[in-house]
Amino acid sequence: MTECVEYKGYRFPATTVKDLEFAENELQVLDDDVFNVTYPKSGTTWMIEILSLIHSNGDPTWSQEVPNWDRVPWIEVQGTEEKLKKIQDRRRYFSSHLPRQFFCKSFTNSKAKVIYTARHPKDVAVSFYHFSKINKLFEYPENFDLFLKNFLSGNLPYGSWFDHVKGWLELAGKDNFLFNTYEDLQKDLRGSLKRICTFIGKELDEAALDAVMENVSFKTMKDNRMANFSLVPERIMDLTKGQFMRKGISGDWKNHFTVAQSEYFDKVFKEKMADIGVKLPWE
Ligand code: PPS
Repeated sequence: MTECVEYKGYRFPATTVKDLEFAENELQVLDDDVFNVTYPKSGTTWMIEILSLIHSNGDPTWSQEVPNWDRVPWIEVQGTEEKLKKIQDRRRYFSSHLPRQFFCKSFTNSKAKVIYTARHPKDVAVSFYHFSKINKLFEYPENFDLFLKNFLSGNLPYGSWFDHVKGWLELAGKDNFLFNTYEDLQKDLRGSLKRICTFIGKELDEAALDAVMENVSFKTMKDNRMANFSLVPERIMDLTKGQFMRKGISGDWKNHFTVAQSEYFDKVFKEKMADIGVKLPWE
């Protein structure tokens, strides 16, 4: 791994042990906070845009003028402590890829809300594979087969998809936890937006919802420099090898997996998710 830090047996990019310790042990969660939590490549950036646009009642100014990492900052990356101090005059929204066990301890007894977005794991693997080619903090993947082996064994930054989803879904059923999927957003964006609004206690009229829909579309986000990661320095992201806003579809795994890879994946999925106790949409 080129530039990941090791923390309690996991690898994390763009951070330090001190920053990870801060996120886990010191960050003081407020009851009004909203957390956008995901395993990588599951819809994090989409949810950042959704939360930003809901917050601004559909007005795109904030999303067009401020990079997404300052609107809904990641809590586990370098410099979070300083960034937090600057958010004082508005509700706080955060993103996180942290596995449940490393998440802020102060969340446990708070009323802060978590929106956990998951995506069909085969599509996550494909998206992660392509992202690893452009993100210089990750090991460049030699080929898809090898990458898939690492995905299935959890030998990747942020660890195993299976453990991540299982860990967070232990909170399913709690009032301050909303389980959402990338596929829900694709199939019924308006319905999903309404559900999210209700969950975070924000009312939007139909015109505002229309504006949110328009500004969180793949096309709008792809063209928005504050959302498409084109502002990330070249030393971190090589956009000559691909794009962050790659395809934005469900089912691209069918263009990448062989029949054997897909069958093996299904077998591992069944084994690892057998005891989850929540019906997942991709079984
Ligand atoms: S990251 O790096 O973990 O924060 O990535 P993340 O944002 O979780 O996931 C990136 C994938 O989400 C797609 N994306 C979208 N799809 C549909 N509509 C919208 N608006 C949207 N925004 C981001 C993005 O294209 C990545 O998926 P792939 O399959 O690679 O295209």
